[in-house]
Amino acid sequence: MSAIEETLVLVKPDGVQRNLTGEVLARIERKGYSIVDLRMVQAKRDQLAAHYAEHEGKPFFESLIEFMSSGPIVAVRVAGTRCIEGFRSLAGTTEPTTAAPGTIRGDFGRAWEDGMVRNIVHGSDSPESAQRELAIWFAD
Ligand code: PPS
Repeated sequence: MSAIEETLVLVKPDGVQRNLTGEVLARIERKGYSIVDLRMVQAKRDQLAAHYAEHEGKPFFESLIEFMSSGPIVAVRVAGTRCIEGFRSLAGTTEPTTAAPGTIRGDFGRAWEDGMVRNIVHGSDSPESAQRELAIWFAD
């Protein structure tokens, strides 16, 4: 039997700016997962550096931090059986140009001229990441 998991979903600045927060939340709920906490935040650099710590030093790191602090984000605590893998499936692959239609990224994301991708959402990739990331965004 699979245990109920929790995962962290972030609606990134592009998703918030394009008024897609409701769309993302609706897809999570329609799938049958529960939204158990939610907050809109202007991310601080130290939160983003902690969140993306494993990518520090990669070529996209600084522009990713800059992009993620370019506007408010919505942090969502989601619960459900196998929701970590399940939300990643709803989100689609990282690269939105080729993400499958029907997924959040496939339906709404696209590459931009500056080389950054705007892929609307983040979802934790493992139970360990989920626990670590939830502690960053729901610290109190
Ligand atoms: S890696 O190197 O394969 O581990 O990186 P990857 O998993 O593909 O991406 C890690 C996170 O960085 C984001 N990313 C980008 N965002 C914008 N533009 C570009 N070019 C880019 N490259 C990587 C990617 O979306 C991942 O963030 P999250 O928040 O998990 O989606």
